[in-house]
Amino acid sequence: MNLSGVHTGNLQAGDRVTLTDSKGRRKSVVLKEGATWHTTKGAVSHDDLIGGPEGVTVTSAGGMQYLAFRPVLNEYMVSMPRDAAVVYPKDAAQILMWTDIFPGARVLEAGVGSGALTLALLRAIGPDGALHSYERRQQFADVARANVENFLGGSHPAWTLTVGDLVESITDEPIDRAVLDMLAPWECVEAVGERMVPGGVLTCYVATATQLGRVADTLRAHGGFTEPLATETTVRDWHAEGLAIRPGHGTSSHTGFLITSRRLAQGVSAPMRKRRPAPGAYGADYQGPRPANIPAELGGAGAGVG
Ligand SMILES: C[S@@+](CC[C@H](N)C(=O)[O-])C[C@H]1O[C@@H](n2cnc3c(N)ncnc32)[C@H](O)[C@@H]1O
Repeated sequence: MNLSGVHTGNLQAGDRVTLTDSKGRRKSVVLKEGATWHTTKGAVSHDDLIGGPEGVTVTSAGGMQYLAFRPVLNEYMVSMPRDAAVVYPKDAAQILMWTDIFPGARVLEAGVGSGALTLALLRAIGPDGALHSYERRQQFADVARANVENFLGGSHPAWTLTVGDLVESITDEPIDRAVLDMLAPWECVEAVGERMVPGGVLTCYVATATQLGRVADTLRAHGGFTEPLATETTVRDWHAEGLAIRPGHGTSSHTGFLITSRRLAQGVSAPMRKRRPAPGAYGADYQGPRPANIPAELGGAGAGVG
C-alpha cells in the first residue's frame, strides 16, 4: 500500500479525480469502467480518462471541457466530508513546522474531528512514526477514519485512533510531539505534559483570543513548559495577469491561533521572568491561572523576590 495517498502514472479505475470547468467549478468523481458523470452540459464518460494521464481535458456530450487531475492533499482536506470544522491547509502547514513533526516521531493528536490534520501528520511521520489520535465523539471518529482510509486507500500502520476524552483515555506512551485542536486544550496540558519527553513540542490550535490567553497562561502556570509562542497565519493570494498585478480577492480570513511551547525536563521549572508582565495583565480582575514564573507581588503564583 502507498502510505502517502499519492498515485502517479496513468489514471486507473478506482482513482479519485477532480474535474474543473472553465469557470473553476469543481466536481470530484471516482473513476469506474463503463460509468458516466452527468452534467448540465451532457455526460462525461469515465472511459475517456481511464488509461490516460492526468492533467488532460475531457469533453462532455454537450461540448463542455473539464480539466482532470487527481486531488492533492490540500484539496482533499477542504473537500472531504466533514462533521466538525477542519484545520485549513495554511494552518496545517504551520503546525507541521512549528511542532517540528519529523519522520519517526511519536505524535499525539486530539481531537480528530474530520481527520484533516491527521492526514497531514501521517504523511509527515511516515511508516516508522506513531500517531495516536483521540476523539471523544464516535460519530466524528467514524467520519475521520473513513476520510483517512479513503485518501490513503486503506488503513495506515502507524495510526491508532482512540474514541474517548483525551484526559480519561490517554495511554502512558512517551510523546515527542503533540497537537491539540479542541475547545478547551488547557484541560489537557497536565496529562500531555506528564507523558511528553524533555524537549518535546506541544502546539495548541484555537479559534478565539480568549482561548489563546487561557492556553498561554495555563502553560505558564504549569511551570514545566517554555514561554509559549503565539502566532496567527494570514495567507494573501495575488492576482498576476499582464499589467494587472494586485492582491486577489480570495485571502482567507481568520481561522485560528497556534500556541507552541517546549517541555522542560521533569522537575525543572520555567526560569523566573526577568521582564515584568504588561501592566494589568495579572491584576485584580484577572480570573485565570497565575504563572508559576512570575512573583506573587507582580500577579503570578511564584515566590516573592524578597
Ligand atoms: C475542531 S475539531 C478537530 C478538527 C481536526 N483537527 C481536523 O483537522 O479535522 C475538534 C474536535 O475535538 C474533539 N474534542 C474536544 N475535546 C476533546 C477531548 N477532551 N478529548 C478528545 N476529543 C476532544 C471534538 O469532539 C471535535 O471533534
